[in-house]
Amino acid sequence: MVRAYNFSAGPATLPEAVLRHAQEEMLDWRGVGASIVEISHRSAEFVGVAAQAEADLRRLLSVPDDYAVLFPAGGATTQQALLALNFAAPGQTVDYVVTGHWGKLAVKQAAPCARVNLAADGGPGYRDIPPRAGWSLSADAAYVHITANETIHGVEFQDTPDVGPAPLFADFSSSIASAPLDISKYALIYAGAQKNLGPVGISVVIVRRELFERAGQPRAPIFNYAEHAAHDSMLNTPPTWNWYLLGLTVKWMLDEGGVEEFARRSAAKAALVYGAIDASGGFYRNDVVPRVRSRMNVPFFLADERLTADFVAESTAAGLLGLKGHKALGGLRASLYNAMPVAGARALVDFMGDFQRRHG
Ligand SMILES: Cc1ncc(COP(=O)(O)O)c(C=O)c1O
Repeated sequence: MVRAYNFSAGPATLPEAVLRHAQEEMLDWRGVGASIVEISHRSAEFVGVAAQAEADLRRLLSVPDDYAVLFPAGGATTQQALLALNFAAPGQTVDYVVTGHWGKLAVKQAAPCARVNLAADGGPGYRDIPPRAGWSLSADAAYVHITANETIHGVEFQDTPDVGPAPLFADFSSSIASAPLDISKYALIYAGAQKNLGPVGISVVIVRRELFERAGQPRAPIFNYAEHAAHDSMLNTPPTWNWYLLGLTVKWMLDEGGVEEFARRSAAKAALVYGAIDASGGFYRNDVVPRVRSRMNVPFFLADERLTADFVAESTAAGLLGLKGHKALGGLRASLYNAMPVAGARALVDFMGDFQRRHG
């Protein structure tokens, strides 16, 4: 069996050690006689798995005690739809800073139940983050929303912006756990799991508990974060398999050295790939302002775009998967999440050099 290097943007590569661990426990979870995904979510065994995943995630991300950690089913988009519903009063303004595709979609999800103020928009090209001084924040916003890392446009906040007294909400779907983060600067962060945390089908929401005091808007209990918190994210049957794999992935990150280590690896991988692009004499091109280039997702283009299909076909044949760019942007994209080893980035860079020699 040969595992390729998988640069897919998500669902994305998982640590081999996690997959092997899950494989070993698949038929009989620790002597129970059934797999963890075949037993009740209320069983002592699964409740233990869930609690351990939360404890490990809290440790990995240094989550302060006054924050709840939720594990809702569904992806980041579902959370985007729930933010205004839970934390904005009907008709209240919410501020959105849009720095790419996913920020734009977050606005669409909030729009039906809040008055969205586009405080800043880096479009149409989304190659830079609009300077903070130019943001038009509202005086009475329920929250300010940013996308910490834009998975398609490859634009990443390098620091937490100061938005004054308004609670800061951030979509960390594609960069969570890739560097140390002071969570106390945010009122809420959320992430779909399928990039850095595990498999698709579960999300993580980390929210300052005092936000639960907000009435929000009329909503069913299943759309109410406070209810989820009160029931340890088991208001209904949770995605137990995903939660279990997330727990294994988080444990793996702790064992590997935690977020400090992944920040080092991420910097090394990004330096390799951007270095190769910038040294290619224009054969490859990344359009993002270097200051805000994403460490996680590197979109790039060939000067001769007719070669893109060849690049995808040849790289796939060489055991480098998932390099085709998102349809919204075209071109190519290398995602360098925590489970991608530095050796994978090196293999990509070697391939890029080889491809240039043959086609340049
Ligand atoms: C930054 C970001 N936000 C939101 C989403 C949407 O996530 P989901 O498909 O889990 O709803 C994605 C998906 O790739 C993303 O990268």
